[in-house]
Amino acid sequence: MKDQDGCATCHIFKEKEDEVSEVGGHTFKANTAACLKCHTDPEKKRDEAHQQISEKLSELEPLIEAFEKKESEDFKNAKFNFDLVRISGDYGVHNLTYSNKLLDYSLSILKGEGPGEKPKAEEPCLLCHKSLSTEQVAGWEQSEHAKSLETLLASSKAEDACLQCHSVDYRNDPANVTLETAQLPNGCGSCHQDHILETEFSGIGKNLLKPKNEVCNDCHTAGDAKPGDTLQSAQVEIFTGTGGIGVPDSPSIHFSIHEPKDGCVYCHTLSMTSETGEEISHTFEANLAVCSTCHKEPIATLEQAQEQISTQLAELTKLLDEYTDKESETFNKAKFNVDLVSLGESGAHNLKYSISLLEYSKSLLETPVTEFPAYDVNKDGVVDIADIDIVSAHFGESVADSLTPNPDADGSGTVDISDLALIGKHFGEITAPAAAPAIAATDDADK
Ligand code: HEC
Ligand code: HEC
Ligand code: HEC
Ligand code: HEC
Ligand code: HEC
Ligand code: HEC
Ligand code: HEC
Ligand code: HEC
Repeated sequence: MKDQDGCATCHIFKEKEDEVSEVGGHTFKANTAACLKCHTDPEKKRDEAHQQISEKLSELEPLIEAFEKKESEDFKNAKFNFDLVRISGDYGVHNLTYSNKLLDYSLSILKGEGPGEKPKAEEPCLLCHKSLSTEQVAGWEQSEHAKSLETLLASSKAEDACLQCHSVDYRNDPANVTLETAQLPNGCGSCHQDHILETEFSGIGKNLLKPKNEVCNDCHTAGDAKPGDTLQSAQVEIFTGTGGIGVPDSPSIHFSIHEPKDGCVYCHTLSMTSETGEEISHTFEANLAVCSTCHKEPIATLEQAQEQISTQLAELTKLLDEYTDKESETFNKAKFNVDLVSLGESGAHNLKYSISLLEYSKSLLETPVTEFPAYDVNKDGVVDIADIDIVSAHFGESVADSLTPNPDADGSGTVDISDLALIGKHFGEITAPAAAPAIAATDDADK
């Protein structure tokens, strides 16, 4: 009501004859006629709220009397909440949820149960949409989106930056939300814009933050991750066929067909029929009913694709495990593609691209690791001025073995003229075969 008349929405200024006839203007009493705009039985609602709060207040009164440590911080806090609610005079109509929480807090302190759990915030859009949009709310509540914060907080790797895809609080206030303060998962506001009743929606389409074919992309992506980084998600990269290493861009055949309009939502449909037969919306699970428009045996096709991916992933995981130099660029590049596919491919997103990415990784991992001689100081495959530069930079120092690149080319323990001499002797030599050529990727996705 902050956008209507504030207090005067209920404490109305002028009570019209035909609505309430007893009093004139300026009593500022709460007026039941005002409630009828929104409630069918406001008196009952009000009485129930009064009763709930009155009961708690009368339970608290003797506890406050009897509490021994009246100087303690806990006692003062408990009494403060009690006074706030008591003095507000409305006993529940102004803000039943908040009043209840305040009193529950006081009760748990005074009963010696401690402050209890931090009260949970509620998704603000549900205040109205729980009854306006039952299908959407029921589906969302079942979806992983409703658990996104819980999942994150349970992870040992959680840090504030993760919230950008795991909590709607972050979207609303990026600068100030931390793991400590975030309260809500990916709620309605993760994809939709807030709106004020009776004014035009400011969002796109069904009040979305972004067009339908883009609304999933901020989160289901590897973003600008590079080899060596930890990836979070990658459906966007796989679906659009971009961002992988060693393979030309190659959008999914499904991307070419649906991206212009529906993007992910073409298959991850809004509505579907649940197991119990009712229409349900907003779970965003892949809807296999969609596939039959084009595929004769979609489930078999999907399972074959998934089988193929998981066999290859298993093989590559083994190769990565066995690879000796896990700090090398080769390893990081190979792993990057593998991560993209394992996070982003479900079988139906972009099979050909995924297979190409994995094949490229395999070729990288199967190229034998070259042992470079110590006089190729920077191990770039050629003995040249760059190697001399490194030695010069450390000239005269005693060097521990662990220095990389190691300027102590002859292993004498000091960087000196004999290292330069050794490099000079091999100057210009090629020390390793050229890197394996990129295999040609399948480029027939749009045939
Ligand atoms: C949703 C309607 C609503 C709104 C909005 C509202 N009130 Fe109330 N208010 C009530 C009701 C209902 C009562 C309790 C009256 C009763 O018990 O009959 C009440 C009680 C009160 C009382 C106590 C009156 C008494 O007799 O003890 C005060 C003071 C008060 N409100 C002030 C305010 C102020 C100030 C605001 C704005 C910050 C406000 N109200 C907003 C409905 C509302
Ligand atoms: C502009 C619409 C509107 C008006 C006017 C209005 N209410 Fe409400 N009220 C709501 C909505 C929306 C809710 C939350 C949904 C629900 O619980 O039904 C609510 C909730 C309540 C609750 C439950 C309290 C809570 O916080 O959950 C009570 C009690 C209540 N209203 C009483 C009243 C009374 C009494 C009046 C008139 C003095 C009034 N309302 C006027 C829209 C309104
Ligand atoms: C005070 C009640 C109220 C609150 C709070 C509220 N809405 Fe709404 N919303 C409505 C009403 C009423 C409509 C129009 C009726 C309808 O289409 O279901 C609507 C419509 C919508 C629609 C469009 C539905 C369509 O079919 O086009 C979306 C999307 C939506 N709201 C999202 C939100 C989001 C997101 C929030 C929270 C940030 C929110 N609403 C908070 C009352 C509310
Ligand atoms: C604000 C970020 C965000 C947006 C926007 C978003 N998602 Fe998600 N999505 C997540 C997160 C985080 C999870 C994982 C939640 C968990 O497991 O707790 C998830 C989970 C899912 C899952 C379940 C994954 C599984 O492993 O079971 C599907 C399916 C999904 N999202 C589809 C979509 C679709 C389709 C859209 C666009 C309409 C979308 N998401 C928009 C962040 C987002
Ligand atoms: C760019 C958006 C994004 C960021 C940032 C992000 N996530 Fe996620 N996360 C997702 C999406 C989307 C999913 C859903 C599963 C998927 O897409 O594979 C998910 C799923 C998860 C899951 C459940 C699935 C699983 O792997 O078991 C966990 C746990 C998780 N994320 C933890 C984290 C942590 C910890 C961080 C921070 C280091 C983080 N996420 C940062 C988007 C993100
Ligand atoms: C992961 C993204 C996402 C989340 C979270 C989300 N929505 Fe939606 N919502 C959509 C998309 C996409 C559409 C379809 C827009 C279109 O068809 O143009 C939509 C459509 C709607 C519609 C229009 C009716 C319909 O089914 O087409 C309503 C109402 C709605 N959403 C309400 C909600 C509510 C309430 C919540 C929170 C419980 C919510 N949405 C959460 C993505 C989301
Ligand atoms: C051609 C249809 C199709 C399109 C388009 C599509 N998906 Fe999927 N998606 C699927 C199928 C099929 C599955 C696997 C479902 C299963 O195994 O039950 C899936 C699985 C997922 C999963 C869950 C992973 C898991 O293992 O459960 C997420 C998350 C996901 N897709 C996100 C997206 C995102 C984001 C987009 C858009 C960039 C997208 N999808 C586009 C068909 C599609
Ligand atoms: C509008 C038509 C259309 C829809 C709907 C569609 N697909 Fe496809 N799909 C295609 C086309 C065309 C190809 C490319 C066929 C080819 O390369 O042999 C393809 C390829 C595939 C492939 C790769 C097969 C292969 O061997 O390369 C899989 C897996 C797949 N689709 C699964 C699905 C699933 C699962 C769904 C539903 C979630 C779905 N498709 C929905 C048209 C569609």
